[in-house]
This record gives sequence, C-alpha cells and structure tokens, in this order.
Amino acid sequence: MSPDSRSDFLYLTHPTPEEKLATWNLNSVNWGTALSVPDYLEREQFLTTVPLARDGGVTHWILVDRTLPPNERPILASCESLRKPVLVSHNGVITEGITHGIGSVFSQPKFRGKGYASRMLRELGPVLKDWQVDKNVCCPFSILYSDIGKKYYAKFGWVPFPSTHIAFPPASNSKPFNAKPLAYPDLEELCALDETYIKRSLETAKDEKVHIALIPNHDVMQWHHKREDFVSGKIFGKLPNIKGAIAGEPGSRVWAIWTRAFYGPLKPESGNTLHILRLVIEDEADVEANATKLKGILEIAQAEAKEWQLGHVELWNPTEFVKRLVKGTGLEHSEVEREEESIASLMWYGEGSGTSDDIEWVGNEKYGWC
Ligand SMILES: CC(C)(COP(=O)(O)OP(=O)(O)OC[C@H]1O[C@@H](n2cnc3c(N)ncnc32)[C@H](O)[C@@H]1OP(=O)(O)O)[C@@H](O)C(=O)NCCC(=O)NCCS
Repeated sequence: MSPDSRSDFLYLTHPTPEEKLATWNLNSVNWGTALSVPDYLEREQFLTTVPLARDGGVTHWILVDRTLPPNERPILASCESLRKPVLVSHNGVITEGITHGIGSVFSQPKFRGKGYASRMLRELGPVLKDWQVDKNVCCPFSILYSDIGKKYYAKFGWVPFPSTHIAFPPASNSKPFNAKPLAYPDLEELCALDETYIKRSLETAKDEKVHIALIPNHDVMQWHHKREDFVSGKIFGKLPNIKGAIAGEPGSRVWAIWTRAFYGPLKPESGNTLHILRLVIEDEADVEANATKLKGILEIAQAEAKEWQLGHVELWNPTEFVKRLVKGTGLEHSEVEREEESIASLMWYGEGSGTSDDIEWVGNEKYGWC
C-alpha cells in the first residue's frame, strides 16, 4: 500500500545515482522520445556535466519515505532545479542573485493522483528560497515552465506570467541573406555585451514595478547548445554549427541566438522547433532599418528550421516594439498565446503580490527555459 501524501514519514531529499537512473528510465516515455532509451539516459547524465549544471548547478530532488534505506525506497515524485544568475531592480537599484529553475517534475504512473507531486512542490518552494544562498547571494524567486497549463503550479505559488510567441514557418530561402550566421566563437562576446544591455534596461526602468531578468550569459546559452548538439548528433550524426544570426554595424546591430529542440521523432506532430533563445536590438531608433535586419536573421532561422526538419521557428514574448518589427519584415507569421505548454511561472520570495501586476519580467525569452 502506498503511504498517505500527508505522512510525516515522507520527506524531500536527493536521489542516489541509482535512483536518478531509475527516474530517467521511467520518465523517458515523457521526455526521451526523440532518442532511444539508452541515448536518453546518456543525455541526462551528460547534461549534469555541462556549464551551468556542473559543480552543483543542477540539484535532483525526490520525495520518499525517510524510514526506508536509499535504493530501496519507492520514489514517489521527483524533479530537478537548475541554478541561474538573475538581476532584480527596484527604482533603478540593481541587485544580483540566483534563481532555481525547476524542471522534469514527475511521478511514476502507479503513484499519480495521490498528491505526491503536490507534496514535493509544496516543500520545494520554500526550500529553494534558501538553497545555495549565503550572505552574499540571495534567491529572490524561483521559476518553472509548466507543460500542464496555468492552474496546477499556481496552487503552490508559481504564478503564471506572459507566455506568448510568434511562430514562423520553415522556408527554403535561397537568396543571399541580409545577415550572417553566428557560430560558437561569436557567442561569448555577444553574450557579455547583452549582459550590459539588460543591466542598463533594468537600471533605467522607470515605473513602480520590480523588474527582474535572468542573465542571458554564455553559460546559459551553452546549456541549450550542448543539449542541442547531443541530440542532433544522435539523430543526424552531425552537429548544427549555426547558432544564430546577426545583421548591421556595431552599435546598431540586431542578433538572435537560437537552438533546435527535438521533442520527438522527425514528424510535424512532435513539435520540434527552432527556438530563438534571445533577440537583441542594439539601437531601437530606426524601425525600418531594424525590420530589414530582423528579416535577414529570421530568413536564416527559417532556412535552418527547414534543413533540420523542424516544424517552426518560435520567438518568445516579443515586446510591442519587436512585434512592430516583425510586421515590418513582411514575413508570414502567427501570434500565439500559450495556454498549456511552457507557461513561464514564478514564485516570488519578496514583498508584494508576486504577480505580473507588481513584477516586470524583462527578457522572458526561451533562454530562461529549463
Ligand atoms: C504532472 C504529475 C507530476 C502530477 O503528479 P501527481 O503525483 O499525480 O500529482 P498530484 O497527485 O499531486 O496532483 C494531482 C493533480 O494534478 C493534476 N494533473 C495531473 N496531470 C495533469 C495534467 N497533465 N494537466 C493538468 N493537471 C494535471 C490532476 O488533475 C490533479 O488535480 P486535482 O488535485 O485538482 O485533482 C504527473 O502526472 C506526471 O508525472 N506526469 C507526466 C510528466 C509531466 O507531465 N510532468 C509535468 C511537467 S510540467
């Protein structure tokens, strides 16, 4: 008989290597269908060693019975959290900190509907506030991206935030592009520059709200790219070298960094997508010139989506300005408000409502996803 989810015997702890493997084996049905099971297990192991995740960046959590010995206790629910750097600003005063992005929330089929995942999440929320925190580092909020709608995680305090995107179809654009591709060696410098831009935008934010941002740094991008390379290597036997595109002269450039995500076999119904991780517009003054640059970048993205058999290109939570530019490109596109999948959700550990009424999530783009 399975224990009551309210039992004092249940507690949140960390799995042994064997328990981690057992969990991955079970959840391969949910998140491993682009790969064979052995390849999925290898990927999950590999992803613990990449920038951001290594050196304690990723933490695995399980809900188990404390009276039973490790490796002999049923794993009632599991998840992981990934540490990422953040900025918070209020009235132009910026503090740096960390957030924990929760992913892979899972309960094996035989234990579902008994309240175990709920119990785990209820305990995890407050624990993450103090996890890997010291007198110099605070964790002002934790996040997750819900694939099961807007209600479930809200019950525990992770409030849904805007979760929209613009989708573009793949296209075989053969004409010369008005932009040039970005590869690994280009990214570090651009990410460093982007960090200064996002800091500046938080410093100059003028309203009463608290402004927050995950820092789109090089490690964050690499986490996505290492995952992409691993999966692409297994599926195609080759690695995708084009990681984004850039157009214009320094000071007025537009660039996008992207990743290819494979959620299942190479079929439209898998939802495999070229995700723009981050879009940067250095100077917003000239709408028409920016639209032309963006068009060149998106055309490369569309061509890459076609080449790698991805269903579409997605640009998450575009600002009103970016929406105007997209219209200006004349490219076919659709605006999507997500209701079920990848709902950006945030638990605020400070004062105030913790909702988007009080908090402005700047750069709420795909790079923050985990
Ligand atoms: C989602 C999941 C972790 C829930 O685990 P669980 O232990 O059954 O959850 P609990 O018993 O604590 O909670 C059950 C509640 O979750 C809701 N729920 C479960 N799956 C859901 C889904 N796919 N969509 C919406 N709600 C869902 C149930 O409706 C139920 O709601 P109620 O309490 O109002 O009746 C589990 O179903 C699972 O592992 N699913 C596959 C992986 C997955 O989709 N993970 C979530 C990724 S964001």
